[in-house]
Amino acid sequence: MPDRTGTHRMTADEMARQREYTDKIRKITTDAISDGHRRQACVVTYGCQQNEADSERIAGMARDMGYTIVDDEKQADLIIVNTCAVRDHAEKRALSITGGYKHLKAVNPDLIIGIGGCMVSQQAVSEKIKRSYPYVDFVFGTESLARLPEIVYEVIQKVKRQFVPNTGEAVVAEGMPVLRKSRYQAYVSIMYGCNNFCTYCIVPYVRGREVSRRPEAIYAEDEELIRDGYREITLLGQNVNSYGKEFDGECDFADLLTRLCRIDGDYIIRFMTSHPKDASEKLIDTMAREKHIAKHLHLPIQSGSDAMLRAMNRHYDYSSYRRLVTYMREKMPDIAISTDIIVGFPGETEDDFAGTLNALSDIRYDMIFSFIYSKRDGTPAAVMDNQIPDSVKSERFTRMLAVQEKIAYEKNIAEVGKTLRVLCEGASKNNPAKLTGRTEGNKIVLFDGDASLEGQFVNIRITQGQTFALVGTVID
Ligand code: SAH
Ligand code: SF4
Ligand code: F3S
Repeated sequence: MPDRTGTHRMTADEMARQREYTDKIRKITTDAISDGHRRQACVVTYGCQQNEADSERIAGMARDMGYTIVDDEKQADLIIVNTCAVRDHAEKRALSITGGYKHLKAVNPDLIIGIGGCMVSQQAVSEKIKRSYPYVDFVFGTESLARLPEIVYEVIQKVKRQFVPNTGEAVVAEGMPVLRKSRYQAYVSIMYGCNNFCTYCIVPYVRGREVSRRPEAIYAEDEELIRDGYREITLLGQNVNSYGKEFDGECDFADLLTRLCRIDGDYIIRFMTSHPKDASEKLIDTMAREKHIAKHLHLPIQSGSDAMLRAMNRHYDYSSYRRLVTYMREKMPDIAISTDIIVGFPGETEDDFAGTLNALSDIRYDMIFSFIYSKRDGTPAAVMDNQIPDSVKSERFTRMLAVQEKIAYEKNIAEVGKTLRVLCEGASKNNPAKLTGRTEGNKIVLFDGDASLEGQFVNIRITQGQTFALVGTVID
């Protein structure tokens, strides 16, 4: 059961105290300009959208502390790495990048290095950094995001390393400064933490128990974004469908969406992630009714085998998931559906895996995000004795991708001839001669046009479907 008494909200007084620290740091960094050196900060981000959103707050706080935000760590006087722990690979990368900062510190002894986020919210990793990375000045868990000014101030004033661990409660802090990367796409966290304890997953241990922001705070943030010309708002939470549980029926997730859609303007709302066990018909009806909500649902299935879903502690089975998809397609025939899949969970037999392949062919997702199971210390699955050998995991993974690529290709060529509304995101990174954007269904579209279209909705006639993208032309 969720522990509703354990949730934590930063008070207005506490936020004011943090702003005082910010002001004190700004005095110090501003004084430093007199020696001809403007202080610069770099924020490096790993992990999911939640971390991207947190990093925009970190950048906002660093800006208010008087730092100019730069992309290059080599130019920075303050480097903050926002880490992820969801898979082993993410941790290894963050640690090796951090290892590389040792020589930057040798060149600039005044450089301050801080590590935050999910990876260091594990006690063991925080201690390892304390021991083996002496040039790291501070470590702050996910709960301490809003206390960053105080932590940086302590480091600067006392020239003493700071290690701020998590206690297991996600924290809501309203009124943090924010420096957004985009001027037309915005992330808005609506809740923090997770109570689901899927047996493979580290997130509940590093993000703490679930806590929701008040609906009026979310409304005010959205309204301001839309007034400022933002065209796409993505609402974030590990399980948005359990939004508002602590408000005793006052405002659930579908109610929140309905309220937000009353804001005037030309915009779309996306959200992630939806846990299938909590995705309600009310939510689907709301999506079908509200024009502002993108007709796309990301609904992680993880596995098509009931035995695996039980072992994963997911609280649904394939047939109930399938019924939800059927209902969704009845209400919104054009809806795009994407999912997350884990291959090689402990005990996964060839039959279980066949269940996952069957789910792919049966549901025909527009897009999947697939992961090879990665053992996370402290989770129940890590100590299950039937771990799958790496060779079997990667062989299954390859087979699964082949099945999905064919489906994605077929689904994408079925889009040819349609006219779709796309939010232009500027030049494509892979193909800079083309503009890129996403459809309501979150499919990538490549098209020709003027760079000034960036940030605007354009109608695109689809002329070609590829496995991972659509190609089209702008219609006036
Ligand atoms: N809260 C979201 C997802 C968070 S993590 C949800 O419930 O869907 C994003 C995805 O990473 C998960 O959906 C899962 O597919 C994958 N993932 C999580 N832990 C993993 C692990 N230990 N190994 C491999 N993939 C994992
Ligand atoms: Fe992890 Fe499950 Fe929570 Fe998602 S719902 S963050 S997969 S524990
Ligand atoms: Fe996200 Fe990684 Fe943390 S996926 S919630 S940044 S563990």
